[in-house]
Amino acid sequence: MKKSKKKNRRGFIKEASTGAAGFMIVPRHVLGGRGFTAPSDKLNLAAIGAGGKGGSDIWNSYADGENNVVALADVDTKNAARTVERFPKAKFYKDFRMMLNEMGDEIDAVTISTPDHVHGIAANMAIQRGMHVYVQKPLTHNIYEARKLTEAAREHKVVTQMGNQGASHPGQEQLAKWFAEGHIGNVHTVNVWTNRPVWPQGIPKPEGDAALPDHLSKSDWDLYIGPAEHVDYHRLYHTFKWRGWWNFGTGALGDMGCHLMDIPFRMLQLGYPTEVECSVGAVFTRDWSPEYIPEGCPPSSTVQLGFNPTANNNSKINFTWSDGGIRPFHPSIIPADHPIGDNDSTNGVMMIGDKGVLTSGTYGMVPKMYLNDGTLVEMDKNFESKNKYLDKPESGHQYAWQAACKAGFNSKEHKALTSSFDYAGPMTETVLMGNLAIRSYSLSKVMSSGHRDYYGRKKLLWNGEKMEITNFEEANQFVSRPYRKGWKFI
Ligand SMILES: NC(=O)c1ccc[n+]([C@@H]2O[C@H](COP(=O)([O-])OP(=O)(O)OC[C@H]3O[C@@H](n4cnc5c(N)ncnc54)[C@H](O)[C@@H]3O)[C@@H](O)[C@H]2O)c1
Repeated sequence: MKKSKKKNRRGFIKEASTGAAGFMIVPRHVLGGRGFTAPSDKLNLAAIGAGGKGGSDIWNSYADGENNVVALADVDTKNAARTVERFPKAKFYKDFRMMLNEMGDEIDAVTISTPDHVHGIAANMAIQRGMHVYVQKPLTHNIYEARKLTEAAREHKVVTQMGNQGASHPGQEQLAKWFAEGHIGNVHTVNVWTNRPVWPQGIPKPEGDAALPDHLSKSDWDLYIGPAEHVDYHRLYHTFKWRGWWNFGTGALGDMGCHLMDIPFRMLQLGYPTEVECSVGAVFTRDWSPEYIPEGCPPSSTVQLGFNPTANNNSKINFTWSDGGIRPFHPSIIPADHPIGDNDSTNGVMMIGDKGVLTSGTYGMVPKMYLNDGTLVEMDKNFESKNKYLDKPESGHQYAWQAACKAGFNSKEHKALTSSFDYAGPMTETVLMGNLAIRSYSLSKVMSSGHRDYYGRKKLLWNGEKMEITNFEEANQFVSRPYRKGWKFI
């Protein structure tokens, strides 16, 4: 009974927008002229995670009233307060599961902007109920969840977009155009780097000081932990700083990988990597004895991924990621006084080919092409972007998604999305391969001498189709994660 009611509402929205409904839908321009939104054109939106980034995700999807916001879920009323004020008619929940179960019939589409450990479970639950989803980056906390969400979205025919808004930035189109025109030849080397972590990371697990702030109850904290392992509350876990703990976050790679690695992944049409190796910065608070912090993401790391030639790039690629502020060396064809990547060089991408180098800042900003003959080419001021929504916030990334939800699964608008899960799933898996290698690098046992033997510090070979490390079984534990009792990814 419940299910068919839900289907009817979604079917109505889809048919209304394609004009296939069996009754007359008056086009919006006839009803109210420019800017008028017919009620039948509105999506009913909900947000999971309404504070932090969730505030702008739901606001941008609401699109100045082009849609309704009917429900909000956040475990922290204080953090969500601004969004709650903005949408006084929306029903507020602390538990997103209750929201999806109680209001499932009324919700068409959901934005998900919680810490990373909740993305997969919340998105899967919404998709299983036929809702379209916008999920913040990284799509999920681990590789298995990314694969399963991608499959579920296809199976349930929902419209999806990951929140790597740089995918919609015209700088990325410019880079792809230069590359397709053959100016730099085949790319053999890629460098991607970031100044993250810019929060405490690589520090010992906090002990004590576990008193909850007044506005959070024990059950709020329990909901926050969700599928993760129980830990007592600490301000280093909520808000924002959860990024540095594997239980909740995905470190520097999770924070910036889906923005920066997106650029070469898209341009070079990369698939699953074939191998991964990493090196990780150690922390010393005592002489000669490194801290052992398996719960925490490291203060810095460098990861090397191998890729086979692709349909548009006839060369194997050596792909190096570095974080913690470690930058690649300046190639000789880029003048020494030029920044690399962003204008302050703190984050960036360099794609080095036989005949030149393409560079980009975060989100595809400041794209540049340096050719071996000394020419520098900058973004064409008259570049004609395919993106129709550049006047909207974040390059129209959320706006394009809500428009595609209205147009329906497999519509032209859906196919034009720059980060639907068919793309974002495999890209996120590649980002998270770095974390698999980093976690494997920490595997150790204490020897009779008292020293630790780090037996996972090796190049790992990856079978992408099978989601399996083929030369070191123990690393496969990091492909997915165990869930706390009562939580399942189904
Ligand atoms: N695309 C971007 O530019 C961008 C920028 C910032 C953050 N992000 C992403 O957005 C997500 C959130 O990051 P943030 O910086 O806003 O974090 P945050 O800690 O500031 O905010 C997270 C919000 O989610 C809420 N929350 C936590 N668990 C919840 C649950 N189980 N159910 C409902 N709400 C829950 C928190 O109370 C908080 O309000 C992350 O995935 C992050 O990577 C993306």
